[in-house]
Amino acid sequence: MKHLTIVDHPLVQHKLTLMRKKDTPTAVFRQLLREISQLLAYEVTRELPMTTRTVETPLCEMEAPTLAGKKLALVSILRAGNGLLDGIMELVPSARIGFVGLYRDEETLQPVQYYFKVPADLEDRMVILVDPMLATGNSSAAAVDLLKKAGATKIRFLCLLAAPEGVARMKEAHPDVPIVTAALDERLNEKGYIEPGLGDAGDRMYGTK
Ligand code: URA
Repeated sequence: MKHLTIVDHPLVQHKLTLMRKKDTPTAVFRQLLREISQLLAYEVTRELPMTTRTVETPLCEMEAPTLAGKKLALVSILRAGNGLLDGIMELVPSARIGFVGLYRDEETLQPVQYYFKVPADLEDRMVILVDPMLATGNSSAAAVDLLKKAGATKIRFLCLLAAPEGVARMKEAHPDVPIVTAALDERLNEKGYIEPGLGDAGDRMYGTK
């Protein structure tokens, strides 16, 4: 898989535009994020290993394709990651779920860890780490460090928007972790927000501002 995949599907781009609008209400924002997360999940799971199994249709027996290996692990960076997680869980209901609690120190922009709980046997699973905004890349790089320490070897990073700075940071720290996103925006501003962006994803999905 390429290091950066931008999902330019018309439905993804249309929904993203609606999410960017500052007057999109919280409930609509959340619903759009859920829908986009499923379209992005389609892309990020494209290379899941497959096998076949014998099934009987009403007409005959066949060797039918099915997912192989251990269940996928979805890991959300709290709290905004949960907006992507909810939709993907609907699509892959048997996935195992983990959480990484990181908040961004607003002065240093460095991530501070406060929670870490992930499924067992990470080394045998594809791990999809989710966070809507890849801004400085500090939180995602730190979350990948933690996942690797916990044994993960096959990690994908899924986000809604990425800044060039975040992509570069991830490429430098974790060149083995492909990124899937709906858009690569222009820049980070001095407060570490993506521009044009959509504002604070957590605040917009939970109505906290
Ligand atoms: N986190 C957000 O929610 N938005 C940004 O623009 C950057 C980081």
